[in-house]
Amino acid sequence: MNLDQQGRAAMQFLGSLQVYSSSALQQQAQEDFERQPEAKGLAQEFAKDTTRDRWPERLDRARDVAERSKAYRFNRLYQRYVAEEIWVKSAAAVERKRAELEPVFAAAKKQPSEKLKLDPALQIPDFYQGVEWHLQPGGMDGHDLYGPMFALGILPYVFGRGGFAAVAVHDNILQQRREVIKQFPKAKYRRIYEPGCGGAGTLGICRERFADAELIGGDFSARALRDGLAMSERMGWNIHFRQEDARHVAEPDNSVDGVISYAVHHELPESAAREVINEMYRILEPGGDMVISDPPPFRAVPPFNAALLAWEADNRGEPYFIESGITNLPQLMREAGFVDVEEYALQDTGYPWVTRGRKPAKKAG
Ligand SMILES: C[S@@+](CC[C@H](N)C(=O)[O-])C[C@H]1O[C@@H](n2cnc3c(N)ncnc32)[C@H](O)[C@@H]1O
Repeated sequence: MNLDQQGRAAMQFLGSLQVYSSSALQQQAQEDFERQPEAKGLAQEFAKDTTRDRWPERLDRARDVAERSKAYRFNRLYQRYVAEEIWVKSAAAVERKRAELEPVFAAAKKQPSEKLKLDPALQIPDFYQGVEWHLQPGGMDGHDLYGPMFALGILPYVFGRGGFAAVAVHDNILQQRREVIKQFPKAKYRRIYEPGCGGAGTLGICRERFADAELIGGDFSARALRDGLAMSERMGWNIHFRQEDARHVAEPDNSVDGVISYAVHHELPESAAREVINEMYRILEPGGDMVISDPPPFRAVPPFNAALLAWEADNRGEPYFIESGITNLPQLMREAGFVDVEEYALQDTGYPWVTRGRKPAKKAG
């Protein structure tokens, strides 16, 4: 199954533009940044002073310095152009193939399944509602064929080539998930839950490593869950999906021994991130592990990279990107009760960034 030639060509052009923008142009922009008189002082401030309230103003200064570079301005123009156009071009491409794609991707719509529990009455919180995430027209559920737009167009031709948000150019986002899943400290798990699973992108890769584990994913988006089920059924991954808020999930206390959270925390204001971590602590059994991967916090990257990350907030439909880059996830995990909490990068680009911890085997005290 593939897009037609016109669709493939359009997506290839966008992918190539993103690669060019995030390699040659971004490299030039970084060199321009480092030549500016403020660059050294900013780097020292970033390394030394992580006082929470100072980040917004400091990020603004880093962006002002970056914007002096013509290479940076073109780099950002192309990033924004690609970020918008992927939806426009892939929507047109899947519409031309609707008759072929609909039965496959929308199949889960027709068959109620034991493996997909939807909740039409689910209360979607204000912080999520009405946002056109990643510039997706209408938000996560804005197009019934977002599944094939992503799987046949955006993933292979654009995101799969890296060079957007925290993902460095030429990085492989599926391999990154594999590396993150290796951060689970045990060789076997019985039941793994993913808050904000979207479709089956990360749980499908979990299945490669944990062949026997029960896998359960929860998300707000009915459309993403349906696509996840369709993919899981095609691939034989046997994943269970539930439409639910990661802050209040249907799992009983102490019912899972692993939680994987991938690319969700940057979509949450800090208060919600805290609630999700507390909730995952509740459902984990004593001795269970939680592995989180999200873009690195600002305190872990140089000012130029921080400026690039902060740009995502205004320019890629990521309203909490700045707040989440300031949020201290290890602290939230420790406050929830997790122990042996650590954070680290898996590559010298700073991404994937991992935060992990364990629910103590016995309750403290
Ligand atoms: C960027 S996607 C990542 C999807 C998936 N984890 C992956 O690795 O591909 C973030 C997902 O989190 C979901 N999400 C964000 N906040 C949520 C919440 N409080 N409860 C449930 N889902 C949430 C969004 O609907 C979206 O599908």
